[in-house]
Order: sequence, then structure tokens, then C-alpha cells
Amino acid sequence: MTSEELATFIDRRRRFAEALGDGLAVVPAAAETVRNNDVHHSFRQASDFFFLTGFDEPDAVALIDPAHAKERFVLFVRPRDREMEIWNGHRAGVEGAVATYGADAAYPIDQLDARLREHALERETVYYRLGTGAADGRVVRLVTDLRAARARGFPAPRRIEDPGPILHELRLRRSPAELARQRRACAISRDAHAEAMRYAQPGMHEYEVQAAVEFVFRSEGSPRDAYPSIVASGPNACILHYVENRRRMAAGDLLLIDAGCEYGYHAADITRTFPVDGRFTAPQRAVYEVVLRAQLAAIAAARPGVRYEVIHDTARRVLTEGLVALGLLPRGVDDSLAMHHYREFFMHGTGHWLGMDVHDVGDYRVRRASRPLEPGMVFTVEPGLYVDPERETATFWLREYSEDEQWERRLRLGTAAAKKLEDEERAKAEKITHRIPPEFRGIGVRIEDDILVTADGHEVLTAGTPKTVDEVERTCAEPSRLPRRA
Ligand code: GLY
Ligand code: MN
Ligand code: MN
Repeated sequence: MTSEELATFIDRRRRFAEALGDGLAVVPAAAETVRNNDVHHSFRQASDFFFLTGFDEPDAVALIDPAHAKERFVLFVRPRDREMEIWNGHRAGVEGAVATYGADAAYPIDQLDARLREHALERETVYYRLGTGAADGRVVRLVTDLRAARARGFPAPRRIEDPGPILHELRLRRSPAELARQRRACAISRDAHAEAMRYAQPGMHEYEVQAAVEFVFRSEGSPRDAYPSIVASGPNACILHYVENRRRMAAGDLLLIDAGCEYGYHAADITRTFPVDGRFTAPQRAVYEVVLRAQLAAIAAARPGVRYEVIHDTARRVLTEGLVALGLLPRGVDDSLAMHHYREFFMHGTGHWLGMDVHDVGDYRVRRASRPLEPGMVFTVEPGLYVDPERETATFWLREYSEDEQWERRLRLGTAAAKKLEDEERAKAEKITHRIPPEFRGIGVRIEDDILVTADGHEVLTAGTPKTVDEVERTCAEPSRLPRRA
């Protein structure tokens, strides 16, 4: 770790500690998960833990204890072990945790319970995110055990608080150093999407194009994907989280690629949709142009002070106008919006925060109101339209409803009970069966870019990824620098 990187982690811990007051935070690392026998899934550190420590190994826990006289940042880690290191790789050990990562003290992980107890004895609040599974039992046991200490006059924990809201507000706005990493993730991912357009040809399998995308990620310096790449051709583009990537592509197919790499623990998230044979058909182009218009309009709305939900409202209005014009909806634009008929073809949100994780942390609403955008926030804008390949007709209910109320009811009743009520209400409403023009069936288009809110507007971090019909067709016609199967 360079001294500049170390300074970043020290600064993050300082800001976190300020918010903790005299509380004690317990932040666990990610666990290794077994794939089979002695083979593990590839390890990726928990973002909250990495954000505070920069420490990239499993079986570790960080304590942040701002009120402690000496041990304000303690790391519990796997000790050095020559034999284990020969098999599985280097460990920093307790020595490295102090020397490299700047811990005030470090101990082998098997001393966690005893030492955590000493720290907690003097603290009224333990900040620990319950529900992540990592150390839930340990922390609950500790707090219940120490009730006896309270009875004997020690402060001892009376509260387990979630540190998430504090940490996630810190993670929500990018510092210049963080932004530099995210920009790099975006630039590499841009290059990978352009290369996929050059590389894809009818007759290839989706996974071959996936290989081209991920080759560019690795060859330009990204150690891993930010999420499993979606390489979805033809009807598969209508499966939102399609990751099988095994279909053989044919001329006339569209290929939807949703893929982004990670660089310096920051994610990119790009989707492009292009014709496998390099030329959009007229119906594909018509749908594509609607999605593109919606995406550009939504991006144009992004600036400080604008509420996050304006992005979604803008995208869905433009999509709905396009759907009506294409004959995909039975009513006019206002009815289609009020009755949410567009959801037949656009069933997801317009985006999400993007940071260390692809669906990053941070609240979208504050005191129930959509939060205003601030400089340093990064989010995706990713409208899409997906026309079911198998349905000749779609059913639309003539009933206005509020999505906000629907959400609230789901939160109050739980999703299953609320959905049952929704179904019952819908069954009472009149409905229209609408024929889907056959030329659109099976078309799935999504266009996704990553947007930084700046002091006076926004910047598209993924700019330069071919996007207009002309840019996409031109890039598809360029030769690829990558080898193809003979
Ligand atoms: N790649 C996941 C998403 O776009 O949300
Ligand atoms: Mn995506
Ligand atoms: Mn996304």
C-alpha cells in the first residue's frame, strides 16, 4: 500500500470515528465461501470493511474504538503460517496489519472474543451491522453476557447500532482519489463494450463475446468483473438477469451486453445493445431510438438539487411516449403513465447508486422524500424496453394507482401479503387485451451509462462508449483485434 493510499484509509477512519463518538464499531471482513471440497469461490472483500481498512484478506475483523487511549483501530487477522501460505498465498499477519495497514494493534483472529470483550466493557454502544451473518452470534452473545457488567457499574453495551447509515453516507460521495479509480473502471469498460461490437458475429456463442469483453477488462488492468456479465442475444435480452451466456447467436439478433469491471474497488456498469450482424432492422431501430431518447432525456435532467426520482420520471415518460407511438400500448401517454401500463415493457427502475458495489449503498429517500442529487454522487441511467418473445397479446388493467402507496403497503404488510391484495384489487378492474405488433416481439434493448453529479451539472463517466445507431453500426463494422475460433 502506498503512503497516499494509506492516507485515504486513515482519513476515512477519522471521518467514521467522528460519527461514532464513544461507541465501538465492529466491522467484519467477507468470509471465504466453499465452491466444492477445498476449492473456494473467488474472494472479494466486503466493501464496508475494505473502505475502512484496505485489507484484502478473509477471516478478519476491524474494531474502531475512538475513545480508547491506545487501540483506536485494531485488526484481527489470520496469523502468518508458512505452510498455509505455500498453499494459499501470502498473509499480512499481525505484523503486516500494523506495519502496512496502520493498525494501532493487531491480534490473531482467535483472540477476537476475549479482546472484543475488554473493549466493549467500557462502551455503551456497539456499532455492528446485524444480519450480514459474519459475526451476528458473537456480538449478540457479547452484549448479553455483558449485562452482568452493567449491573456492576460498568458502562457496558446497552445498544447495538447499525453503522450502515454512517458508513454508507460516506461511501455515497466520491472523493477525487475514489473518482480517479471509478473513472478508470468506466474507461476500461467502455473499451470492452466497443471491442464486443467489433468482435461479435452470427454463429458465435454468447460466451465467446463474454470472453472478448472480459479479456479487455483484464488486459487493461482490471482484476475482476463488477458483477457477472450479462451477454444476452435475441430473446434472452428480455431476461433481465440472464447470465447463462450459452446461446448461439444468429444474424438478425440483437445482443444486449450488461458488463462492467472493477478497478481499485470501484465499479463500472454499462449496457449496450447492438445487432450481431452489424445492422439494426427497422423495428429494432425503432425500439432502440425510443430507449436512447429516454436515456438522453434522463441524463440531461441530472444536476445538483434535482431529486433522484426525477431521473426515473423523465425516463418513463419518454419511454411511454415512444411505446404509444409504436402501438405497443392501448391508451394515451397520460393514462399509460397513471395506470403504469409502461411496466409491461419497462419493469425495472431507471438506475441505482454506483460505487464500490454495483448496486451501491446509500438511501434513495430521506424522511420519505426522494433525495436531491449532490456533487460527487454517481449513479446509473439505464432505461430499457423488453417485448416478451412469446406473448401475442398483453393485458392492461384500467386502474390508476400510486407506486409509492404500493411500496408502502409492501413494507407494512410484507411483499407476499401486499402482492395478494394488489392481485385482488386488479381483478376488480376492467382490462384490455392488446395485440403486440409481431415485428416487436422478442426485442430487448437497454442502454446504460454511469453519471457523476458535478458542481454545475453532470458528467457521463462512460462517455465514448458507442451509443447512437450510427456509432454502434460503425463500430460493429470495424475489425476486431482479438482472435476468433477458426
Ligand atoms: N448490471 C446490473 C445493473 O445494471 O443493475
Ligand atoms: Mn448494468
Ligand atoms: Mn445498473
